Amino acid sequence: MEYKSYMADRVKNMKGSAIREMFKRMADPEIISLAGGNPASELFPGEELSKIAGKILMTNPTLALQYGTTDGYPKMRDCARQRAEKVNSVGENDAILIMTGANQGIDLTAKAVLNKGDKVIVESPSFIGSLNAFRTYECGLVGVTVEDDGMSMEGLEDALKNNDGVKFIYTIPTFQNPTGVTMSLEKRKKMLELASKYDVLILEDNPYGDLRFSGEDVPTIKSMDTEGRVIYAGSFSKILSPGMRLGYIVAPAELAEKIEMLKQVNDVHTPMLTQLMCVEFMKKYNIDSYIAKNRELYGKKCACMVENMEKYFPKGKVKWVTPEGGIFLWCECPTITDITPIVDRCLEKKVAIVPGSNFATDIFAPSNMFRLNYSSATLENIEEGIRRIGEVLTELL
Ligand SMILES: Cc1ncc(COP(=O)(O)O)c(C=O)c1O
Repeated sequence: MEYKSYMADRVKNMKGSAIREMFKRMADPEIISLAGGNPASELFPGEELSKIAGKILMTNPTLALQYGTTDGYPKMRDCARQRAEKVNSVGENDAILIMTGANQGIDLTAKAVLNKGDKVIVESPSFIGSLNAFRTYECGLVGVTVEDDGMSMEGLEDALKNNDGVKFIYTIPTFQNPTGVTMSLEKRKKMLELASKYDVLILEDNPYGDLRFSGEDVPTIKSMDTEGRVIYAGSFSKILSPGMRLGYIVAPAELAEKIEMLKQVNDVHTPMLTQLMCVEFMKKYNIDSYIAKNRELYGKKCACMVENMEKYFPKGKVKWVTPEGGIFLWCECPTITDITPIVDRCLEKKVAIVPGSNFATDIFAPSNMFRLNYSSATLENIEEGIRRIGEVLTELL
């Protein structure tokens, strides 16, 4: 039986994430993965959370196992509010909704505002999960170049001027996925000004904001929004655990109401057990000191990666911007046009990296870039992985 003719147009041409595809090929335990986006599992508070989960199930099984409310367990909403208020990202007329990961929040926000044929302006490159979510609503993606200090503002103004039907700008201004770069304060202000001038919304996605290990914090775009134009997506994935699937959306109440209705259709509510676990964890422990440990580790791992890139990569052939936080490092090889042979050769040498084309608005266009992740591998594996990539780059560049 053939199934393509049964498939909806919106999914026919979707391409699975190369990262997930790569995971399938990575069953080989010898492969060093610098490809994923996993946080460091060595710091997961497994023991603390196992005690918390046991106590919840023993003392309050009904609350944990019964249906919950769609907007989230109220104390969990308070936890999300705390995180968002820490970066001044809750406005007077905003509501907070707990989401099953920020991913769901981004997807449902797009679902709430996009009609077929509408346009979304995105950083190019950008997070594949969000790009794929937008694609399913049959909208056009307009990519704007990411510079060393964030999205090009000239590019953004051109995109706004030359495209009808733009509903929102999607941005990951801090420690962007995949480039690791952070948008400057001036550009954040300019983005707000342009959004106002061209009357579009901004969806600010900030899962990595807490993970700064050098430099100074920059205010969120949401914190400077005076017109209620910014929808803010936050996540507990990179500061507690991605498997607990806890994220949130801060959005103007009128929009949040619609997003909540869509969530009800989508999964009714985020699992109660993990919401209760997070609430208890934040009550009993200082989540900021847990995050500080992660920051310190990521700073060390990033420094180790950069040091080895300087040692093993062929001189002058690879460009990168050293990140000040987050979990990704982005490399460009200006002397070639297509990174695919390098990625394949790396896999033969048992090291996995992600080709840049995965993060582009046009996934079929060749890219001379690749993304590295330093949060999940050990220091030894980072050094060995970079050494092997260095061998391949020296051979093929
Ligand atoms: C930029 C960006 N936004 C959102 C997400 C999704 O986060 P969550 O696990 O909360 O769904 C990720 C995950 O890697 C990400 O990199």
